[in-house]
Amino acid sequence: MTVVIESVSALRAQVQAWRADGLKVALVPTMGALHEGHISLTRAALDRADRCVASIFVNPRQFAPTEDLDKYPRQLAFDLDKLEQAGVHAAFTPGVDEVYPEGFATTISVGGPSAGLETDFRPTHFDGVATVVAKLLIQAAPDLAVFGEKDYQQLCVVKKLCRDLNLPVEIFGAPTVRDPEGLAMSSRNAYLSPAELEVARKLNKILRKAATALEGGADEAATMTAARQEILDAGFDTVDYVEARQTDTLAPWRRDTSGRVLVAARLGKTRLIDNVEVTAR
Ligand code: PAJ
Repeated sequence: MTVVIESVSALRAQVQAWRADGLKVALVPTMGALHEGHISLTRAALDRADRCVASIFVNPRQFAPTEDLDKYPRQLAFDLDKLEQAGVHAAFTPGVDEVYPEGFATTISVGGPSAGLETDFRPTHFDGVATVVAKLLIQAAPDLAVFGEKDYQQLCVVKKLCRDLNLPVEIFGAPTVRDPEGLAMSSRNAYLSPAELEVARKLNKILRKAATALEGGADEAATMTAARQEILDAGFDTVDYVEARQTDTLAPWRRDTSGRVLVAARLGKTRLIDNVEVTAR
């Protein structure tokens, strides 16, 4: 049975009771509209812990006023069913007032890996993410938390947040779950028309080609320029960025250390992100 918990005090009491019984507790933060990518995180959590809490909270502070907060898919009954099937022990589903009571006035701002990439296009996004993730980790006080590599920059920001603030939690990254054609699963894929879906499916192939080229010794700037053009030729409207960076720190890419190629591109009204690994030579 998945217990549904709406208040911070009930969440704390539940996690404390488990820990008093010697059970290890994992947290999987989500914004709902759950798909196989989210469920894979709960599996990774249950591989490492005895109890799993998934939070479902569409966090207003990580959406800019121009973004899709109002139309972000909300389907709580369906999500709870999925969590139940996945053997998740508790769903934390706080209302906005529980997380941000009137007068809330604190923001956590992480530097380092938050520089560039998403921040160039969504300047306040990671402050919103870091603030809500810090709150969730403090509220739940889990032993560990799992985040997806799908949002690679977010994963790096969360690891840095926990290190810098000495939050007593271990952060695990879990691999991106994709459809058979390589499209990374995302709640926002629901916005795509059938024609756009076909275009979206080309994104990962282009990224993998760029990563393979870098691994084979190709010039970084030329490879990124070619990838950008291929994304546009595939039918995307604009490319926000396509860049190679080092793993974890997201410092400028170097051939002798492991890295990632990260992309954000727009297709109609939908903005898609993805990333792939580049192994060191
Ligand atoms: P959301 O987009 O719902 O994603 C929740 C978690 O699922 C994140 O860690 C994300 O990286 C992971 N995820 C999404 N798609 C995935 C896929 N295809 N494969 C593997 N993991 C995937 O990310 C957020 O919510 C929010 O920013 C949040 C961390 C909850 C803070 O509000």
